[in-house]
Amino acid sequence: MSSPSPISAAPHILQLLSELHQISLDQEAGISKKGKVFSSDVLGDLQIKGSNSNPKDDFDRLMLDKFIALDEDKCQFTYQLVNAMGATNIVEAGTSFGVSTIYLALAVSKTKAATGKSGVVIATEKETEKAAIARKYWAQCGPEVEKEIDLREGDLLETLKSDLPEVDLLLLDIWSALSLPTLKTVLPRLRPGAVILTDNTISGAKGYADLLAYLRAPGSGFQNMTLPFTNGFEMSVYRPQ
Ligand SMILES: C[S@@+](CC[C@H](N)C(=O)[O-])C[C@H]1O[C@@H](n2cnc3c(N)ncnc32)[C@H](O)[C@@H]1O
Repeated sequence: MSSPSPISAAPHILQLLSELHQISLDQEAGISKKGKVFSSDVLGDLQIKGSNSNPKDDFDRLMLDKFIALDEDKCQFTYQLVNAMGATNIVEAGTSFGVSTIYLALAVSKTKAATGKSGVVIATEKETEKAAIARKYWAQCGPEVEKEIDLREGDLLETLKSDLPEVDLLLLDIWSALSLPTLKTVLPRLRPGAVILTDNTISGAKGYADLLAYLRAPGSGFQNMTLPFTNGFEMSVYRPQ
């Protein structure tokens, strides 16, 4: 028996999500032999190939038109967690074509209706083309999704520096080298009990070494667990002393 989905949304939204996940899976299989793209691996390959340009720029160019959406089961878990926590203020780093953002918006819309609280999904994307496509998908979903999202275009280390509400949940689905600087940018706005979710922390552990050392250091204020999703999904609860 297949496992039940917690997502409640109009049929056209569910249909779009399932199409977008399929495109993402197909594209990832085409880029990586592992069937999953880890920024640290791809960057390493580009370095080995020895192109004359900066491997980081090559990587950004390669990824410009690629979907690398958060896995469907992780999106569903995140949706469940948002509802369970009563979370309404969420930061998503990064957004790409906005697949996980749709789940966050649906969950926040539901939590706001249940609690009467205000809130927003702050999405972040540095590539203008990706941001435009994400907005197109959100418009296709309709106002239930679109009105919950504040998309900040540009480098998230700048766009997240100001105007953050007290944050309930931070989703780190970003190139691993950016994850610790992103956490440090959002940290002053995290509420006690806030949750940080980080994708691929088992298979991408090498790239995440600095983030994981920071989160897991004694006295860090974070209570950590690696959830057993494919490639790992770290759940860190902020419990400042
Ligand atoms: C793994 S994808 C996000 C996938 C998305 N969460 C989803 O499920 O559809 C990571 C995105 O972060 C964006 N990104 C990378 N560096 C960034 C930066 N400094 N500021 C904002 N976005 C950035 C990339 O362009 C890429 O689209």
